Amino acid sequence: MTKALRTPFSSDLQQKIDTLKERQKKIMLGSVEFNSPLLLAPMSAISIAPFRLLMEELGAGGTVSELISCHGINYQNEKTHQMLTIDPREEHIGIQLFGEDPEAMARAALVAQERNPKFIDINMGCPVRKVVTKGGGSALLKETQKLANFFSTMKKDLSIPLTVKIRTGWDEENINAKEVVHIAKEEGLEFVAIHGRTRTQQYKGHANWNILESVACEAELPIIGNGDLHEAHEVRDRMGQTNCQALMLGRGPLRNPFIFLESYLTADDTINFGPKDYFEVITRLYDYLSQYTDRERTLLVQMRKHIVWMAQGFPGVANFRGQIFQTPDLGDTMKFTEDYFMGLDHRTSKSIDHSEAFMTSGHG
Ligand SMILES: Cc1cc2nc3c(=O)[nH]c(=O)nc-3n(C[C@H](O)[C@H](O)[C@H](O)COP(=O)(O)O)c2cc1C
Repeated sequence: MTKALRTPFSSDLQQKIDTLKERQKKIMLGSVEFNSPLLLAPMSAISIAPFRLLMEELGAGGTVSELISCHGINYQNEKTHQMLTIDPREEHIGIQLFGEDPEAMARAALVAQERNPKFIDINMGCPVRKVVTKGGGSALLKETQKLANFFSTMKKDLSIPLTVKIRTGWDEENINAKEVVHIAKEEGLEFVAIHGRTRTQQYKGHANWNILESVACEAELPIIGNGDLHEAHEVRDRMGQTNCQALMLGRGPLRNPFIFLESYLTADDTINFGPKDYFEVITRLYDYLSQYTDRERTLLVQMRKHIVWMAQGFPGVANFRGQIFQTPDLGDTMKFTEDYFMGLDHRTSKSIDHSEAFMTSGHG
């Protein structure tokens, strides 16, 4: 870490955050405590310490790291070890590992445990060919007869809880989430997060919440439902009727970092989050990201993507996006960003067309 600076939020924004956070209720999923049942999903190259910390501050009840290779850890790969970094201010964080070999996963889990996460999560949802052809990620869903041994080998020497994130199955003909949950329960895992798509589906179509609800209804373990909860009203509706003990949000918070908080709004509330609030969040993300990288180029690339996601849905975003991608300088990028967000009327709300594809590839 280079510097420990954190620009305070304005009192107006901080008050809105505090008001909505007071409505959250702590929950236990198995033996793992979270600040609320709304969690940030693991996302490769996104769910890193600075972003996870920001999301916890903005109401995520807990977070999971991006997927991290067990072999990278065991081979002492420096970059992989950096991915294990947890910020001391993070509260409810799990580290997610991927790999096909239970012994290698078990060794890596012991190393990851040293970083003091609250739990170790196994990636069994990654649909990416490079991972699947080696037998990791969602390929593990195909060989359920090996799973009991996989889980017990990993759990044997681990002193913190073990959890797993899966898809509903390999394909339409092989929906086997219930079976996987049963094995997980038998082997003493704490909870199962399920992305409501099959591996074959990749990111096409919609998450199948009928399957998620049916699995959660009968499940012997707490189930975290995940998939396509892009807007706060969708999260609210789902929270009101779900059999899942918790919900996990991935892409939603990228375009709306206030989605966790807004999920606690009621019809009587007058609270809303406008462009100025977005700019404050971007400033804080800049502070946090700069504590984890000394390379201006890396910071620029990271900031650019978040700025553009957060701007999506605001007026004039196409021009702004063009300007941001043509600006090679970090200082200019932040200046243009300030001009854009602060130049919008504070009452401006977002309008996102959810029929348009957004981030249709990922590792789970
Ligand atoms: C860019 C990106 C990266 C992802 N990386 C991971 C990952 O590292 N591990 C994992 O289990 N899932 C990963 N996922 C899947 C998400 O955790 C989540 O299951 C999926 O995006 C569906 O949830 P959503 O509709 O709320 O985004 C990733 C998804 C995206 C879009």
